[in-house]
Amino acid sequence: MAEVTGRRPLMAGNWKMNLNHLEAIALVQKLAFTLTEQQLNDVEAVVLPPFVDIRSVQTLIDGDKLLIGYGAQDISAHTAGAYTGEISGAMLAKLGCQYVVVGHSERRQYHAEDDTLVNAKVKAALASGIAPILCVGEGLEIRESGEHVGYTLAQLDAALEKVKTDEVEKIVVAYEPVWAIGTGKVATPQDAQEVIGAIRTRLAEKYTGGTADRVRILYGGSVKHDNVAAIIEQPDIDGALVGGASIDAEGFARIVRLGK
Ligand code: PGA
Repeated sequence: MAEVTGRRPLMAGNWKMNLNHLEAIALVQKLAFTLTEQQLNDVEAVVLPPFVDIRSVQTLIDGDKLLIGYGAQDISAHTAGAYTGEISGAMLAKLGCQYVVVGHSERRQYHAEDDTLVNAKVKAALASGIAPILCVGEGLEIRESGEHVGYTLAQLDAALEKVKTDEVEKIVVAYEPVWAIGTGKVATPQDAQEVIGAIRTRLAEKYTGGTADRVRILYGGSVKHDNVAAIIEQPDIDGALVGGASIDAEGFARIVRLGK
């Protein structure tokens, strides 16, 4: 809980490949008038639209001074050059992106992103002043074998290779068990806390206790307004990375309100 930990709750909506730029404007506007200023101060609400929407979202948020953050769903590991289809950290920073999703299981699975590339993308984001939302989490087989904590910590270690203490505090970690993403199967609050607590302990071992206390760690995987409250009550869980439920303004607003 925020009062206890000093960490500001964060609810981030990963829209995935949904909503064109006009629909994006409508959703952000609706979020802004559904949530009060107080609610948006208490909880950091962030949208992560497709690249083609970001300019429109930026114009709306900046123009109306909305208290909503935004970011991207991917970043190139390269800074510039002959990388057709890629988007650099500098380009995202120029659009005012504060966050970028890195290591999402859909990118690991469908785009063969391995730990080395995830590590490079974490560093690319940090080099551009953008906070990576680093996704880690095990698949069903690993969960059933009971190796989920070790597996997830190994992903964390690999993603943070040569990331320094002052930088790691800017990172948001999202524990997203793959078996819970888009499946309607949500981890129990205890299951989520087990892994997220272990992630915080590992950060304390790798860096310092103070650093580990400042890093925000989210849960993701079939989050809805009716299951998130018990999850974020857990001591180490600072919010949620929301997929499907984030493309409905009313549903996402309800989730944001529960973040407090
Ligand atoms: P979901 O997706 O909420 O639709 O399960 C979560 C995510 O992929 O970040």
